Amino acid sequence: MTTYVTLEKIDEAADAIRSKTSYKPRVGLILGSGLNSLADSVQKADIIPYSELPNWPKSTVHGHAGRLVIGELEGQPVFVMQGRVHFYEGYSMSQITLPVRVMLRLGLEMMFVTNAAGGIHPDFEPGDVMLITDNLNLVGMTGGNPLMGPNIEELGPRFPDMSRSYDPDLMAIARKISIENKVPLREGVYCALSGPSFESPADLRFLRMVGADAVGMSTAPEVIVARHGGMRVLGLSGISNKANVDGSTITTHEEVIEAGKVITPKIETIIRGVLRSL
Ligand code: HPA
Repeated sequence: MTTYVTLEKIDEAADAIRSKTSYKPRVGLILGSGLNSLADSVQKADIIPYSELPNWPKSTVHGHAGRLVIGELEGQPVFVMQGRVHFYEGYSMSQITLPVRVMLRLGLEMMFVTNAAGGIHPDFEPGDVMLITDNLNLVGMTGGNPLMGPNIEELGPRFPDMSRSYDPDLMAIARKISIENKVPLREGVYCALSGPSFESPADLRFLRMVGADAVGMSTAPEVIVARHGGMRVLGLSGISNKANVDGSTITTHEEVIEAGKVITPKIETIIRGVLRSL
């Protein structure tokens, strides 16, 4: 039986956070696999382990810390999720997106979401950063949309538009920061699958044909919930490996974490630049 979170459960978590910090952040930041160290740059932080938050899903994956870091980055109050949970861990789509709904109840206006992804576009190399211009939510299309179940009217409409999942103005700022700081940005469509197995070569050839540039196991559900509630979204994928379309290489979680070390400073530069421009 699928678990659908209720507004009451969301508000219990939001109230717990309000009782532990006096910051009123406008921007939420979700850190993906291997990108957790970005939270170390947050100044004057209030740190809240997920274990202290009611109803909050707990991460079971190596490479994902489990805490909120709420403090300042480039003078902006930010709400940083150091680690997220994934559908493949056994949570429902509604549970994995509870943190985004908490952000909405706390009044956040923007969500910057990051992830590790396999590069499908033939030009992409490990270590590249891709600005997500749109997503292909294959899990959602096949019955795993995070908005399934009773609609929470206080958060958004039953049938939300998804024509601009990723905010054009935030994308424009990210492009400008990329040029000014000489941090090259790729651009493309992120495809979300459930995982946890990596894709077969046939899966990857299929994804390439349907227009995916990068593939991962997160992000699209969180973005749908953020857009449902009207938050503006910026998405960045760290390309940790090249998609193995011909079956000649293997993909490991270790290489994903390792690539994060090269990618983190690049993503940090972009995010700091965008925060400065707000
Ligand atoms: N596939 C799916 N998810 C991923 C990959 C990949 O190749 N790399 C990092 N996350």
